[in-house]
Amino acid sequence: MDEETVEELRKIVGRDWVIYGRDVTAGYLLDETPPPIRPIPSRDVVVVKPGSVEEVSEVLRYANEHRIPVFPRGGGTGLVGGCIPTLDGIVLSLERMNKITVDRENIMAEAEAGATLGDLIKASEKAGLFFPPHPGDEGAQIGGLIACNAGGARAVKTGVIRNYVRGLEVVLATGEVLRLGGKLMKDNLGYDLMQLIIGSEGTLAVITKAWIRLYPRLPATATLIIPFEKRSTAVKAVPRILQAGILPLALEYVEKAPIERSAQHLGLEWPCKVGESFLILVLAEPSEEALYAQCERILSLCEKLGSLEPLLAESREEQDRILKIRSEIYTALKPDMVDILDATVPPASIGAFMDEVEHIAERYGTYLPAYGHAGDGNIHVHIMKEEGWSMEDYDRVRQEIYDVAVKLGGTITGEHGVGAVRIGSAAKYMSQTHVTLMRGIKRLFDPNGILNPGKVLP
Ligand code: LAC
Ligand code: ZN
Repeated sequence: MDEETVEELRKIVGRDWVIYGRDVTAGYLLDETPPPIRPIPSRDVVVVKPGSVEEVSEVLRYANEHRIPVFPRGGGTGLVGGCIPTLDGIVLSLERMNKITVDRENIMAEAEAGATLGDLIKASEKAGLFFPPHPGDEGAQIGGLIACNAGGARAVKTGVIRNYVRGLEVVLATGEVLRLGGKLMKDNLGYDLMQLIIGSEGTLAVITKAWIRLYPRLPATATLIIPFEKRSTAVKAVPRILQAGILPLALEYVEKAPIERSAQHLGLEWPCKVGESFLILVLAEPSEEALYAQCERILSLCEKLGSLEPLLAESREEQDRILKIRSEIYTALKPDMVDILDATVPPASIGAFMDEVEHIAERYGTYLPAYGHAGDGNIHVHIMKEEGWSMEDYDRVRQEIYDVAVKLGGTITGEHGVGAVRIGSAAKYMSQTHVTLMRGIKRLFDPNGILNPGKVLP
């Protein structure tokens, strides 16, 4: 980055909001991707923190004129290197744009890109409303959550982030500001460019603001942990629960060793003392009666399949603790991990998928801990470090897992996206027609290829 560029950027956003050279800390260069597969960031970057949509627009206009790569950045909680600046350029951090207001009349939030998931949860609660999904780390920012179409644990009942976004304000590579949708429950005016930008991982436009649908508070909540002796029976219960017409907020599957390790890592205790495999259900209903009726139906259904003594958590603290232990499995396993996968299969096929993963583990003589969003068919298989293995060995295991998922009608990523890390695999599993259309769209939005280059597109 030459001095002149840095000076121009300072003129746009103000001296204090441009970080350059040795002052750029790792915090702006990395994300949560496991270190063995994490792309190496370029060191010659300038971090720019605009304070308004006008400033974002000016930065992009300047970058586009001078063909400078721009890496939009949210909370940096991604797992596939999506925001890592892999070329010299600008890291565009939206952190200063963090206002949220809640419109009670329309049951919607208006959130700037840099507001965090934690901020949104708090603002909704303060307004007596509810934001149902919980895509993990509460430090994730709205812009990043939308750019990556985050999923997480509480997506079974009401869907992933895509299902909540009703409007976007975005800045195009040219600096033009575009507003799509709004506080609208229906909008059929032309192609849905908003949905196209959701999940485009910062390659089509920079999201600066969003209108997000909230829900009325569901006052009766509970978390059920249902233990089983064996994985196969636990997993069998998942489609049965859904087929019975029961819609929990979350329907997660976890195993004893990883969940206990996560609890220990947090200095907590996993509250369930029996069983090897567990279903965690987060329930939210309009009334206590509805909640208990649902609990009873779930428990009687699981009991018939051979579940053990369940645990019912009703206090907010206990429920939060269980969700926390579940959410931190990844962090707890990270030191021993090479990769975390997020292949997704049709929900009724998770049993078959996990059986095949176990066969792969046996064949390679490795441990492949698997857990995750069972109700969505979205299972996190972890590839763990093995003494004497090369990257090719890990690649072969990953490939076999992906093949199994795709054979079952699944996809290689249901949650974490393509980013930088999955580009090779995306090339293999996407049809040529799909890639060609994506390339054409990319050219139309970003003719000079300045937005998050090297990501998503094979
Ligand atoms: C989880 C993250 C890793 O589900 O997606 O824990
Ligand atoms: Zn997940």
